[in-house]
Amino acid sequence: MNVPFVDMARLHAGTKAELLAAFERVLDSGAFVQGHEVEAFEHEFAAAYGTPHALAVNSGTAALHLALQACGVGPGDEVVTVANTFIATAEAISLVGATPVFADIEPGGFNLDPDDFAAKITSRTRAVIVVHLYGRVAQMDRIVAIAREHGLRVIEDACQAHGSAVDGRRAGTFGDAGCFSFYPTKNVGTVGEGGLVITADDAIAARVASLRNHGQADRHVHVEPGYNYRMPELQAAALRVLVPHLEAWNAARIRAAAWYREELAGTSVALPVEGTAGGHVYHLYVVRHSRRAELQQFLGSRGIASAIHYPTPVHLQPAYASERHGPGSLPRTEAAVREILSLPMHPSITREEVAAVAAAIREFDAQHRQEVAA
Ligand SMILES: Cc1ncc(COP(=O)(O)O)c(C=O)c1O
Repeated sequence: MNVPFVDMARLHAGTKAELLAAFERVLDSGAFVQGHEVEAFEHEFAAAYGTPHALAVNSGTAALHLALQACGVGPGDEVVTVANTFIATAEAISLVGATPVFADIEPGGFNLDPDDFAAKITSRTRAVIVVHLYGRVAQMDRIVAIAREHGLRVIEDACQAHGSAVDGRRAGTFGDAGCFSFYPTKNVGTVGEGGLVITADDAIAARVASLRNHGQADRHVHVEPGYNYRMPELQAAALRVLVPHLEAWNAARIRAAAWYREELAGTSVALPVEGTAGGHVYHLYVVRHSRRAELQQFLGSRGIASAIHYPTPVHLQPAYASERHGPGSLPRTEAAVREILSLPMHPSITREEVAAVAAAIREFDAQHRQEVAA
């Protein structure tokens, strides 16, 4: 059985008619950029998140960039974050002229280690970007407490964690600003690119609103140089159709993770830490294996897709390599990166597909037992 990593066509089969109707509405309106659809989408998203402000932009990277700038982070500042993330987290820090300082991940998990975060704070530290990697909420109580003690801004990269929540508190609402990506394969994505900043802070909201539209405060009044980070109406219209499905899609991912847990019990792979109920929405289902390359090749030979998120941590990328962050500087991150493997995960994956992945892993285990015995 071939098992794809994600299946966008299967997911959108159920929403196609609604999407087409929304696109027709936009075409008929004759307004295509940051108009009525964007405004309505922002209101709906803010209401769903119970937050006063939601500002749509055209990517998750733009959301992070504007959140940092609106928090007053700039040249000469340091921002602590993790290195096992998509490069965009670090790029946003560079885009405001600040310096990323990488902290290691928590023992046994993949998110920021609060102790190493505290250890990396200097007199120049201005903010922390916490990434809720793979959909699992980071240790926000401790991280926010440490940040507040040092007067630091807290920006959440919730680009992989739409709808993830601990004790009713959603990823993106713990700090000063929460940033989302609507890249198509996210837990809810659009049919192109999109992003969003949420915040309860009126000043941050006003600055993001202005910066995303050329620093405009009023029509033809530009109070500072900004950007063209506006969301197109077609994307907002699509998101108004798709976001209401998020809860059901997350529930399907959580159910698939439970199937994996059952099916993979007793195999050689190390399963992801669960977290509290609802605290992990499994944007990615990431296991660990000491013979990752062989396992990935074997799964491929059985028609099972897999991927690595991410094969090179940001501090070892050519763009960010520095003496401060050389090989060996983040031991837990570097150990994890050698072993991580993302298995097929999406809301419409079936129990049969999960069972096929597990059967291939058991076959791999059996072959290796024979090799060891021979
Ligand atoms: C953790 C993380 N941060 C930031 C981004 C950037 O989002 P975008 O691709 O919409 O710019 C992504 C997604 O690609 C991501 O996974």
